[in-house]
Amino acid sequence: MVVEHEARGKAHTMIDEALTVERTQVQTRGERTRALRARQDAVVYPAVGRLQLYGDEPLAVDRASGMYLYDVEGNRYLDFFGGILTVSVGHCNEEVTEATIRQLKRAQHTSTLFVNEAMVAFAEKMRDVTPGDLSVSFFTSSGSEANETAIMTARMYTGRTDVIALRHGYSGRTQTAMSLTGQAPWRSGLVYDGYIKHVRNPNMYRRPAGMSEDAYLDLCVSEVEDVISSSTEGRIAAFIAEPIQGVGGFVVAPQDYFRRVKPIVEEAGGLLIIDEVQTGWGRTGVGMCAIGHWGVQPDVMTFAKGVANGYPVGVTITTPEIAAAVDHLTLATFGGNPVAMATALATVEYIERHGLVRNAAERGRQLRAHLERLCSQRACVGEVRGMGLMQAIEFVADDGRPDAARAGAFVSAARRHGLILGKGGMGGNVIRIAPPLIVTAEQIEEAARVMGLALQEVA
Ligand SMILES: Cc1ncc(COP(=O)(O)O)c(C=O)c1O
Repeated sequence: MVVEHEARGKAHTMIDEALTVERTQVQTRGERTRALRARQDAVVYPAVGRLQLYGDEPLAVDRASGMYLYDVEGNRYLDFFGGILTVSVGHCNEEVTEATIRQLKRAQHTSTLFVNEAMVAFAEKMRDVTPGDLSVSFFTSSGSEANETAIMTARMYTGRTDVIALRHGYSGRTQTAMSLTGQAPWRSGLVYDGYIKHVRNPNMYRRPAGMSEDAYLDLCVSEVEDVISSSTEGRIAAFIAEPIQGVGGFVVAPQDYFRRVKPIVEEAGGLLIIDEVQTGWGRTGVGMCAIGHWGVQPDVMTFAKGVANGYPVGVTITTPEIAAAVDHLTLATFGGNPVAMATALATVEYIERHGLVRNAAERGRQLRAHLERLCSQRACVGEVRGMGLMQAIEFVADDGRPDAARAGAFVSAARRHGLILGKGGMGGNVIRIAPPLIVTAEQIEEAARVMGLALQEVA
């Protein structure tokens, strides 16, 4: 067994070396991928296979390690999308995996009927890394459930139902989360929560022609007031937003936005819910949570994705007073699962021990400098934006409209050169670049080289 494992390890090392020598073009033959994809299509919802954010051909992952994915054809890819911003400390991170296995052998599942040390320890960690007096968590298995829980909590605490969300935001795929989502393609439930109202998102790049940034910010802020006073009872349960809209195309909220919105929400009796499913856990390089950068204290926060490096964990955290309002029976069978909790704790400790928030800031600056250099003279690039290791390129046509075809060609070209990137944005025209937080300076250089080639091919 050990010998076989070592032999496999050696074979992988040889493949890695061979690919390091000849890295410029991926040799995708595709037979195994096509066969696997055909089997998938027969037994899995077709909607699953339709979502190819990383290029025009399916990619079947065989294994993954650190910053790299290996497909079933034997190709290696530098992964700058991290399982959609979820693999925060590298694929199959050894220290985290060891913690997972240790807990797996000790007690695998208990449900929250029983007290379990792993859940308590991670909840204590959540209290320590989130801002202000947020200290009480409810655990689930996804970001959608985390947002569902946040809205339920706000409604029970305030005794009101109306909720304000941002256009172009993404909140998940439960009925409430789809209702919060401000993007038609992601709303597919047919029945929506009519108490959720959407306001203009402060996307400075897409502001009306001729309007200054200050005037557009004023408009976005005053729209929150207008919608509360015209489309709700005048009192609300909550306002929910992502500091950087992830699926929306890494749209960074202006510095003053939340500081100006919070008093309006408070005046209407509502809670401020900040969704850090994508921005959380150090990715933006400004702290474990991004919201500190905007200088406001949320009443409720939600997390998922990178929290447990790919293990399914959703977290809703709030104050003891607000949490106490949830006074009916409620249970998430897999929430607080000891293996998930041990994995989450090991992930956050790894980020702290290895200084990965600082790495996200430094490598983010390096990546951003490359993107600005590569895109500065390109008419097809409307904007380069982002924070830390959450950077984006928005492709536009001559008339400024979203250019989804060029964005698709760009991610496909990058993939042919061995780099995985993601797509997003309302128009499907934004490249999302979000490597795991362990990314090195050399890997940023390599990604920049490939993006330069891809840009030449599509520009
Ligand atoms: C900001 C944000 N919130 C919530 C979700 C939903 O998370 P999940 O897919 O784990 O349900 C996502 C998923 O992409 C997200 O980006």
